[in-house]
Amino acid sequence: MYRDLTGGCEVPATVVVLHVAHERMKNNNYLVVDPVTRQAVLVDPAWEIGKIEAALAAEQAVLCGILITHSHPDHINLAKPLSELYGCPIWMSKREIEVSGFRAERLVGIDETPWVVGNLTITPLLTPGHTPGCVCYQIGEELFTGDVLFVEGCGICQDVASAHAMFDSLSMLKRRLSPLTRIYPGHTYDKPPGLTFDEVFKRNIYLQFRDKDSFAAYRLRKGQSAKQLFAFR
Ligand SMILES: [Fe+2]
Repeated sequence: MYRDLTGGCEVPATVVVLHVAHERMKNNNYLVVDPVTRQAVLVDPAWEIGKIEAALAAEQAVLCGILITHSHPDHINLAKPLSELYGCPIWMSKREIEVSGFRAERLVGIDETPWVVGNLTITPLLTPGHTPGCVCYQIGEELFTGDVLFVEGCGICQDVASAHAMFDSLSMLKRRLSPLTRIYPGHTYDKPPGLTFDEVFKRNIYLQFRDKDSFAAYRLRKGQSAKQLFAFR
């Protein structure tokens, strides 16, 4: 949501969901477009450049930057080529740059300071746990969560310290988000992206824990299937 400079009312950003795949991996890419200026940002682009270019053309949008939630290969796959093709910045948290070693000519390290693209105000929320420098991006009532928060669960954690960090990140989101915030995860399994936080909360066991040790014990429990490890409860 942002100020509509032409009419004074608030108009939501357009979110185009792009389902992309490579071998057994399936990710969601998101093109977020300011409907007034057609300036757009892209979240975690991977693999299917044709789909991204088709979406930009269909929306008559100009790609102005790439938002990276974290540095895992399925989230950064097309960041550099698209940045070079469109001459636009790649935004990633300073911490994630530090721990990942990811480098690109137009890479910009961010903290939680918001910035503006067209009429879109982009607010990064640092949410470590899945990786040390994970970020969720809030644009109006939309939240792009990468592998931090899925509808059905949360991202995998490597050890007790990272699970504690994940608990703190999810607790922060619970305090901060409106029940009507729409959640756009990096992967979806049962349900489509764009459910409200209220709906996600009801379905997601990882949002129900009250202390970080029980959360960590559950997140790191033995005998999880691949699905449970990566997303499901
Ligand atoms: Fe990941």
